[in-house]
Amino acid sequence: MDISLQTHQSYIGKSVHDLPTPALVLSKSVIEKNVNRLHEDVEKLGIGFRPHVKTLKTIEATRIMLANGKYRKIVASTLCEIRGCLPLVKEGILDECLYGLPVRPSVLNDLNAFTTQHNLKIVLMVDHPDHIRILDEFNTRTGRTAPWPAFIKVDVGTNRAGIMNSSPRLDQVIQSANASAAVSIYGFYCHAGHSYASKTTDQAVKVLEEELNGVLMASEKLVDRSKTEEIILSIGATPTAHVVANLKQNLPANTNLELHAGNFPANDLQQVATGLVSFDDQAVRVVAEVCSVYPERNEALINAGVIALTKEASSFSGLARWTDGIDWSIVRVSQEHGIFGWVGEESKKEKVENKFHVGQKVSLYTQHACITSAMYYVMYVVDEQDIVRETWIPWKGW
Ligand SMILES: Cc1ncc(COP(=O)(O)O)c(C=O)c1O
Repeated sequence: MDISLQTHQSYIGKSVHDLPTPALVLSKSVIEKNVNRLHEDVEKLGIGFRPHVKTLKTIEATRIMLANGKYRKIVASTLCEIRGCLPLVKEGILDECLYGLPVRPSVLNDLNAFTTQHNLKIVLMVDHPDHIRILDEFNTRTGRTAPWPAFIKVDVGTNRAGIMNSSPRLDQVIQSANASAAVSIYGFYCHAGHSYASKTTDQAVKVLEEELNGVLMASEKLVDRSKTEEIILSIGATPTAHVVANLKQNLPANTNLELHAGNFPANDLQQVATGLVSFDDQAVRVVAEVCSVYPERNEALINAGVIALTKEASSFSGLARWTDGIDWSIVRVSQEHGIFGWVGEESKKEKVENKFHVGQKVSLYTQHACITSAMYYVMYVVDEQDIVRETWIPWKGW
């Protein structure tokens, strides 16, 4: 077991420099600023909001994203995340959870129990006729009479889950869902993962428009709306959420729009690379320690390797960047070793021995906060002076 699980509270009141390394550090004021920014945009537009809980995987972060119950629905991608959120249902600030992967037979018992035993409304995601079949079979076998609310997942260009509007299979899924007593169509959902390639506001706004048009077009295929009084169109990904204020909505009657996003409280180098947020908007850092310095190759070795940082990429080269000198990048990793190298302009090259010494604590911005955060057992939450004020324990596993 990670020793931090036993000792984490003893670091409350101490500086980030006192933490055992590698450690995951969260700046609470940055999280709150990032979340408030999105809440304000959503409020101004008057649309719904559904945060994804996968990034910081904690009760505390989820409560902030829900604004203590002002917003009352989430997306989760694992049963473990849903179980982790059940105290918020009991507390009365969470009503609904979308299980964010196309549904599969082995999760139905658990998902059903979240509703019947814990009073959490579960919404599913479907994009294949087999999904409708397994729901029919489940309800027949178990005697469940309530239809499962389900989003039809539309692929707007990411090529992950979902069906493109151009495919006749989309009509087929819509029609079989509409005809089934085990399903009630809740709405249409897309997730523009490809918006991460945006480099400007205009590019992100274009993807945002593609998302809206994608779900709108799909919803028009739902010819018989007699079973559905109102439908929800759910769009978003953190880059498109960052530009959601640019949205111009013109929706048909009985159609509500909601925004979903997950990474936005944290941000990371991938988000900074979109040009939509700045370095200071990153709430997640990894703190590591310099183990050795090599002047002959202008490199330093730290105790944060691939399993402390992950091997994600963006237009910022390397696996992580030093917060005190952004041109020092983690250029290579092994399991537990990370190598700092200079990636800035040759003419401005700094000497490693002038910047790093053995035993120095270094903070790193990471490429993808969701994946890096998932590596840690404890999250040290610091104030603006970098003093640990809280520790959050993330939900682990699936
Ligand atoms: C189904 C679904 N919805 C929403 C999100 C949130 O995306 P992001 O982290 O870009 O905000 C994700 C992320 O993977 C997702 O899989």
